[in-house]
Amino acid sequence: MSNKKLIAVLTLFVAFVAFVALSINTDADAAKSKIGKLSKESQACLNCHKSLQPGIVQPWEESTHAVKGVGCYECHQAKKSDKDAFDHMGYTISIIVSPTDCARCHAREVKEMTSSHHAMANKFTGSLDNVLGRIVTGEANFDLGCTQCHGSDVVVEKGGKLQVGPWPNTGIGRLNPDGSNGSCTACHQRHFFNVEQAREPKTCGKCHQGPDHPQIEIYELSKHGIAYEAFKDKLNMGKATWVLGKDYINAPTCTTCHMGATRQLANTHDVGARIKWTLRPPISKVLPNGEQKRETMKKVCSECHTSNWYNGFFTQFDRYVELYNEKFAIPATNIMKFLYDNKVLDPTPFNEITEIHYWHLWHHEGRRGRHGAAMHAPDWSHWHGMYEVAINYYFMLLPEADNAVAAKKDPALTAKWVKFRDEIMNRTEHKWKKGMDAAEMRKVAEFYKKRYGKEGGQ
Ligand code: HEC
Ligand code: HEC
Ligand code: HEC
Ligand code: HEC
Ligand code: HEC
Ligand code: HEC
Ligand code: HEC
Ligand code: HEC
Repeated sequence: MSNKKLIAVLTLFVAFVAFVALSINTDADAAKSKIGKLSKESQACLNCHKSLQPGIVQPWEESTHAVKGVGCYECHQAKKSDKDAFDHMGYTISIIVSPTDCARCHAREVKEMTSSHHAMANKFTGSLDNVLGRIVTGEANFDLGCTQCHGSDVVVEKGGKLQVGPWPNTGIGRLNPDGSNGSCTACHQRHFFNVEQAREPKTCGKCHQGPDHPQIEIYELSKHGIAYEAFKDKLNMGKATWVLGKDYINAPTCTTCHMGATRQLANTHDVGARIKWTLRPPISKVLPNGEQKRETMKKVCSECHTSNWYNGFFTQFDRYVELYNEKFAIPATNIMKFLYDNKVLDPTPFNEITEIHYWHLWHHEGRRGRHGAAMHAPDWSHWHGMYEVAINYYFMLLPEADNAVAAKKDPALTAKWVKFRDEIMNRTEHKWKKGMDAAEMRKVAEFYKKRYGKEGGQ
C-alpha cells in the first residue's frame, strides 16, 4: 500500500470511529434528556430561563422530576392569596417552594421532616447561643452564621418580594411565609433533587461540624468514615432505593444510621427517630422513648455487627455519658447555680470569665467528647473531649469561681462557698486533686471501675 492510500484509509477509519463515537454520544444525551410531558406553563418558564440561568435549568433537565414531567410551574405555582405570591410574566408564582408545596407529592417525607428537631431549628431566640450571636458578636446584622444552619424567619415585602437580610436562606428550620417550618433544599440541592448528593456525608457536614458539634470530623476519621472513603464507589449511592444489606454493605454513612432503610427498617426523614440521648444540653438527657429509639438504631448496626459487638459498644458509650454527667456536668452546673444564687455573678451571661469557662465545658468540650464517644472517634472522645473538660473544670472554672467569691470580700460568703466546694471536691472522684499516695490512687481507680465500669451499664 502506498503512503497516500494508507493515509486515505486511515482518514476514513478515523472518520468512521468519530462518527460512531458521535452517534453513541448523541444517543446518550438523548437518553439523559428524556423529559416527560410538561404543562404549557412550565414550557413557558423554560423558554426564558433556559438561556437566563442554565445553572437552574440544566440540573432540572437531569432530574427525576423532569423525567416525570414535574416542571418549574408544578413547584413554583402559587395561589393569589399566598403571602409571597407575585405576578410573573402572566403567572402567579412564589420563589420559595416550601415543605407544604413539596407535600402535594411527598406527604410522608414532609410529615417526618416537619415533626423532627430539624424543622424546629430556628427556634433559638431564648438560647444562650443567641445572646452570643446577637449581642456578644453582633453577627445578627449580617444574617450570616446562625441562620445559615438554623434557618431565618423569612419576611415578605409588598408585591411578594422577600426582604433582603433573612433572604436568601436555606437553613434547616427556616420559617416560611406560609407558616411551615423547614427547608428541603437544606439537604436537597436544587434543581437536581438527586438522592446521591443528599446521601453524601458532607451534605450533613455543612452544619454538623466545628467546635461544638464536630460530627463530620468525627465520622471522617472513624472506622466507618474510613470504610466509606475506601469503598464509596461500591455503595450504589445513586440508586433510587437504598436498602442496607441489599443495595450496599461496605460502609455506613450519616444517612445509613440516622435516616436510611435496612432490611428491617423503612427510611425516615425524622433524624431523631434512632437516638437515645440528647447530648446538646449541659447535662445529657435520655429522650422520651429513648430505649426504644436505641433498639431501632441497633437494627442498623445488626446488618454489619453481632449483638455482642454493638451491645458492648453501647454500654461503653452510655458509661462515658454518665461519667461526663456525674463527674463534671452536674457539679459544674451546681457551682454556677451557687454563684448566681449568691449574687457572686451578675445575671448577664458571658460578661464574666467564669461563665465563659462553664460555657466551653458543656457547649464545646463536653459536646465534642460525647459526640466522639457516640460515633467512634477516640481522639475526640479523649483529647478534644473529656481531657479538655477535666482541665477546664479543675484549672479554669474552679479557680475562677474562687477568684469571683474572693473579690466580694465577704467572709460569710467565702465560708459558705468553701463548705459547698469542699463537699464536691472531697468526693472520691475528685480527691486526687488534693494529692494522694499510691495506695489512695489505686482506691480511686477501683472506685471508677465499680461506678462506671459495672457490667450491663446504666
Ligand atoms: C418572558 C420571560 C420569563 C418567563 C416566561 C418566566 N420568567 Fe421567571 N424570570 C425572568 C426574568 C428576566 C427574571 C429575573 C432574573 C434576574 O433578576 O436575574 C425571572 C425571575 C424568576 C424568579 C426569581 C425571582 C426572584 O426575585 O428571585 C423565579 C422564581 C422565576 N422567575 C420563576 C419562573 C417560573 C416558575 C416561570 C413559569 C411559570 C417563569 N419564571 C417564567 C423571565 C421569565
Ligand atoms: C421540585 C421542585 C422544583 C422544581 C421542579 C423547580 N424548582 Fe426552582 N426552586 C425550588 C426550590 C426548593 C428552590 C429554593 C427556594 C427555597 O429555598 O424554597 C428553588 C429556587 C428557584 C429560583 C430562585 C433561586 C435562585 O437560585 O435564583 C428560581 C429562579 C427557580 N427556582 C426557577 C426554577 C425554574 C426556571 C424551574 C424549571 C426549570 C424550576 N425552578 C423548577 C424548587 C423547584
Ligand atoms: C407535582 C409533584 C411533585 C412536587 C411538587 C415535588 N416532587 Fe419530588 N418527585 C415527584 C415525582 C413524581 C418523583 C419521582 C419519584 C416518585 O414517583 O416518587 C419525585 C422524586 C423526588 C426525589 C427523588 C429523586 C430521585 O432521583 O430519586 C426527591 C429528592 C424529591 N422528589 C424532592 C422533592 C422536593 C424537595 C420537593 C419540593 C421542593 C419536591 N420533590 C416537589 C413529584 C413531585
Ligand atoms: C455550622 C452550622 C451552625 C451554626 C453556624 C450555628 N449552629 Fe447552632 N447548631 C447546629 C447544629 C448542627 C446543632 C445540633 C448539634 C447536635 O445535636 O449535636 C446546633 C444546636 C444549637 C442549639 C441547641 C438546640 C437544642 O435543641 O438544644 C442552639 C440553641 C443553637 N444551636 C443556637 C445557635 C445560635 C444562636 C447560633 C449563632 C450564634 C448557632 N447556633 C450557630 C449548627 C449550627
Ligand atoms: C437532613 C437532610 C434532608 C432534608 C432536610 C430533607 N431530605 Fe429528603 N432525603 C435526604 C436523604 C439523605 C435522602 C435519601 C434517603 C435514603 O437513601 O433512604 C432523601 C430522600 C428523599 C426523597 C426520595 C424518596 C425517599 O423518601 O427516600 C424524597 C421524595 C425527599 N427526600 C423529599 C424531601 C422533602 C420534601 C423534604 C423537605 C420536607 C426533604 N426531603 C428534606 C435528606 C434530606
Ligand atoms: C442546614 C443545616 C443542617 C443540615 C444540612 C443537617 N442538619 Fe442535622 N441538625 C441541624 C440543627 C441546627 C440541629 C439541631 C436542631 C435543634 O435541636 O434545634 C440538628 C439536629 C440533628 C440531629 C439530632 C436530632 C434530635 O432529634 O435530637 C441529628 C441526628 C441530625 N441533625 C442528623 C443530621 C443528618 C444525618 C444530616 C444529613 C443527612 C443532617 N442532620 C443535616 C442542622 C442541620
Ligand atoms: C454507625 C452509625 C452512625 C453514623 C455513620 C453516624 N452516626 Fe450520628 N449517631 C450515632 C449514634 C449511635 C448516636 C448516639 C445515639 C444515642 O444517643 O443513643 C449518634 C448521635 C448523633 C447526633 C446526636 C448528637 C446530640 O447532640 O444529641 C447527631 C447530631 C449525629 N449523630 C449526626 C451524625 C452525622 C452528621 C453523621 C455523619 C457525618 C453521623 N451522625 C454518622 C450513629 C451514627
Ligand atoms: C455498613 C456496615 C456497618 C454498619 C451499619 C455499622 N458498622 Fe460498625 N463497623 C463497620 C466496619 C467495616 C468497621 C471496621 C472494622 C475493621 O476495621 O476491622 C466497623 C467498626 C466499628 C467499631 C470499631 C471502632 C474502632 O475504632 O475500633 C465499632 C465500635 C462499631 N463499628 C460500632 C457500630 C455501631 C454501634 C453501629 C450501629 C450504630 C455500627 N457499627 C454500624 C461496619 C458497619
